[in-house]
Amino acid sequence: MISIFRKKEFLVDHLQGITDIHNHILPGIDDGAQNIEDSISLLEKFSDIGISKFIATPHIMNDYYPNTPKTINNALALLNKGISENEKLKNTEIHFAAEYMMDQNFLDLMKTEKLLPLKDNMVLVEMSYFQAPINLNEILFKLQTNGYKPVLAHPERYAFYHAKDLSKYEDLKNRGCLFQLNTLSLTPHYGSNMQKFAYRLLENGMIDFIGSDAHRIQHIEKLQAIKLEKKHLNKIDKVLTKTRDEF
Ligand SMILES: [Fe+2]
Repeated sequence: MISIFRKKEFLVDHLQGITDIHNHILPGIDDGAQNIEDSISLLEKFSDIGISKFIATPHIMNDYYPNTPKTINNALALLNKGISENEKLKNTEIHFAAEYMMDQNFLDLMKTEKLLPLKDNMVLVEMSYFQAPINLNEILFKLQTNGYKPVLAHPERYAFYHAKDLSKYEDLKNRGCLFQLNTLSLTPHYGSNMQKFAYRLLENGMIDFIGSDAHRIQHIEKLQAIKLEKKHLNKIDKVLTKTRDEF
């Protein structure tokens, strides 16, 4: 007899030991952890699900979060002090990069400063959820002529790219972008359209990396509850392997 019940598995069982490459765990410098206590409880929760390696990616967004390597470094130093006093976090290791908003400020920044990469030349970038920057092509081109490789954060969340076909996404790929999926996009957390496109991108083999984009503890609690069907887990496992190999 063919069972009508498809076996589902918890996603967290597949995430053990991975480096989380997108999160807002550093205290007090963006819309993520607001203070050291928030950061520590986020890290403790992550450690419960077997994640203790991080690349912290605070926002660099001119008007709202004008972070610099200095503000980020200071926040990490503060957090590292808290970690060193916490037995549960003795295996925790945090490197830092940033999540850059692709705007005019970003173009200016590229002219004068070295960007903070996730690793080597890979830079995590995002755009507004309302519209792409009018000079997106120019930004992506300049980024690459400066030797960087753009990793687009949560491509599934840009509703203005949602269409019957995936041509907008194919175009971004052709213009050099790697794609980083948010784990919570596998649930209706950001909306059912975002969820739908997360699976479409995944099913079409367009996702390169996965990250939590965790801002607060509820995000990890929701992540803990994610159960997936085998066919989706197979796709996710490929992305996880690629993420593990790279980071
Ligand atoms: Fe983020």
